[in-house]
This record gives sequence, structure tokens and C-alpha cells, in this order.
Amino acid sequence: MSKSQKTSIAKPATLERGEARYFHGRVKILDNFEELLDRAKKGDSGTSVLIQAAPGAGKTALLHECARIAGGRGYAVAEVEPTWFLDPKTLHKSIRSSWKNWIAWLEQGAVNIDIGVLKAELIAGRGAKTPIDVIKKGKGPLLLLLDEAQRLVRITHEHERERFMQVVDMLKVIHAGGAGRPVILLASGLGATRQAFADLDISRFDPGCEINLEPLDEGSRRAVIHDWLLEEGEAKGDPAPWINTIAVETHGWPQHIMAYVWPALRQLKLTGGELTPEGLETALEEGRKGRIEFYKARTRDFPREQLHCIARVLAFSPSGTSVAKMDIMASLRMEFSEDKAEEIFTLALYKGILDMRDNLYVVPIPSMHDWLVDNFARYRAPLFPPPPPPDLSIEHAPKEHDQRLEW
Ligand SMILES: Nc1ncnc2c1ncn2[C@@H]1O[C@H](COP(=O)(O)OP(=O)(O)OP(=O)(O)O)[C@@H](O)[C@H]1O
Ligand SMILES: [Mg+2]
Repeated sequence: MSKSQKTSIAKPATLERGEARYFHGRVKILDNFEELLDRAKKGDSGTSVLIQAAPGAGKTALLHECARIAGGRGYAVAEVEPTWFLDPKTLHKSIRSSWKNWIAWLEQGAVNIDIGVLKAELIAGRGAKTPIDVIKKGKGPLLLLLDEAQRLVRITHEHERERFMQVVDMLKVIHAGGAGRPVILLASGLGATRQAFADLDISRFDPGCEINLEPLDEGSRRAVIHDWLLEEGEAKGDPAPWINTIAVETHGWPQHIMAYVWPALRQLKLTGGELTPEGLETALEEGRKGRIEFYKARTRDFPREQLHCIARVLAFSPSGTSVAKMDIMASLRMEFSEDKAEEIFTLALYKGILDMRDNLYVVPIPSMHDWLVDNFARYRAPLFPPPPPPDLSIEHAPKEHDQRLEW
């Protein structure tokens, strides 16, 4: 386990996203990443690494963990945004300010490395004409963190060709290890990210450099809950019943774990750390609500009839199993044009409702699959528009003699 040294996560709003205060698991991925850092340093080269996973799988938390490890191995670390790649000046300025934050963090003693080397990096890249020159001008090992990398797809569509080609050039040079120094681009994003890279002509990654995040394994999910309850919640007594129940209900999905941990901490605060059965019941109820809110937020951009088309296909396969694109498209085409159907499918990938596995598609969180089926599979759009409401104004009120006539 590594405990983050940052002191900022105090608000509940940030608890379910971002850097983990008690990071566990992902051991194999981190081992591979450490090896890559060392290899890149030795060979003066580098590459790009893609973490593609569904919402709440722990991408951002993993990025921070990788940054911490890289910092400890002498890498300068800079968080970047896709649009920064379009303009060398912005890229340089942003990398500089990102490094300044990073150095400030290092100076707090979080990671013990040579800050002088990093400070020298701050002046490199000035006056560069293209994005790749910004990267090439520096000297030491560099880790670029690109979160929400599915947004790369936007720069494909929204910018003039020359500038766009410079971004492609930069990404390709980094990917091929040709920056003239150790540079690693660590990109994480939702299900559309691999495609966004493919559109930029980057479709093959080195072994171990294309990562799909699964739920946390049994031991790690328990360890996370344990740390939150005992370290933050100062729970007294045997936490096993709480840990077991929360671990089972959350399927090891990091966002879900946090959705339950927060109400659990609130209950512990109320009871001064006593682990009461009533407290657990309330925490579970609130956690379940939080889970549903998360699904609602993820599906907000889809009208009901679109979700219905997806859910009625899912209803034929148990949660956690895959469906073919062909089947979802056939369902969408029954209600929408070919183009619209394609657009809805792409949005479902982009929003993380669907994730690609072995050329098939799966709803990455099993309980979200069930929620979609329960709430949308049986939905039917009304066949006819509803009749207009009756006109109740005086002129249209039925007259007495009319009524008599009807009798
Ligand atoms: N390995 C882990 N150990 C402990 N906590 C974790 C781990 N991974 C993620 N978390 C926590 O779970 C929550 C969700 O993780 P995170 O925000 O990284 O997911 P994400 O995949 O980036 O989600 P999104 O797609 O919404 O950006 C965060 O509070 C994070 O700190
Ligand atoms: Mg994230």
C-alpha cells in the first residue's frame, strides 16, 4: 500500500474521483511500468502507454501512482491536456507550470529526487517552433500524463490540418522512442481512447503498454476499505463484517467502493468509531443510492429510447458477458437512421457505458448492466401522441340541453 502524501482530499465531492489516498493493487501493472521507466532511461528512448477503462475503474488514481513512482526514479512529470499539443508556446508554458507544481510537491519531501535536474528542465523548450521540439529540447527523463485521453478525438475534428499533423508527428515520435531522451506518454481514458489513438495513426503498443483495468482483486478491495475505515474512520472493534459486506456489494469497482466508504465514515463519526449494525445498514443504503447516481450521471446524455435500444440487447446476455456491435446496431437501426445509430454507439463508448473486449462489447460494471436492463429494457415509446387535454373553458362546457339530448 502506498499512502498519498498530498493533503488535499477533504471534501466528499472529490472522494469518488482522482488520486487515491490509500492505493492498493494493480501490482503487475506497476511492476511493468517500473521496468519500462528503467528501460527507457537506459536506452534514452521511451514510448506511449495506454490505459483504457470504464468510468470509475481507477484510471486517474493509477496515473497518480505511476507519477509518484516515476518521480522517485528521476523523471520530471507533467500533466498535459490534448489541446496543449496544438501550440508549442502553450505546451511549453503548461509543462513548465505543471513542473513547478510537481517540484513544489517534491520539495515537501514526498519523493526524494534531485530537484536541480528538474529545475533545469523548466527553461528547456523555450522558443520551440513545433510541439515535438518542445519535447526534444529538454534533457532529463520525462513522463507526460494525459488523463481523459479520449478527448484526443476532438482535436482530430476541430483543428486545421497543419496544426493537427504536428500533434500527430509529436505523438508518433514519442511513441517510437525518438525524442532523443527518455520520454513516456502515459495516457488514460474511456472506451473510445484506443480508437482516438488509431485515428492518429498509433495502433500498436509495446507488450504491457496497453492496459485494460479490471475491478480490484479481492485482497486489494478489502485493503482499501480497511484503511479508510480504520485510518480515516478510526473504527474500533472488528471491522470484518463491514469490510466483507462493502467488498461484496461494490464488486471491487473503485468508484463504488468510495461511494460506500464515504457514508460509512459518516456513520463512524456519529458513533465515535463504533461499528454498529444500524450504522452499516445506513451506510449500505446510502452507498447503493450513490451507485445509482453514478449510473444516472453516465447515461444523462442519452434519451430513454436510445438506452432502451441498447438495454433490450443486453437483456439477452447475463451481466459481465459481451454482446456484438452488430446486435446493438440492429436494435438502434430499428428506431434511428444508420448515421444516428452509429453516433449513439460511439457516444456509448465515449461515455463508458460500453467497453470493447476482444472485438465484442460489454457493460464494464456488472451492476450497471443490470440497472440498464431493469430500467430501460422494457421501456416502450408511446405509439401515438397522447390526446390533447380537454378544453375546459366556458364556451366549450357541455350545455344542459345537450346533455338531456344525449340521454
Ligand atoms: N487502486 C486503488 N486503490 C485505492 N483507491 C482507488 C484505486 N483506484 C481508484 N481508487 C479510488 O476510486 C475512485 C475512482 O477512481 P478514479 O477517479 O481513478 O477512476 P477513473 O477511472 O479515473 O474514473 P473516471 O472515468 O470517472 O475519471 C477514486 O476515489 C480513487 O481514489
Ligand atoms: Mg479519471
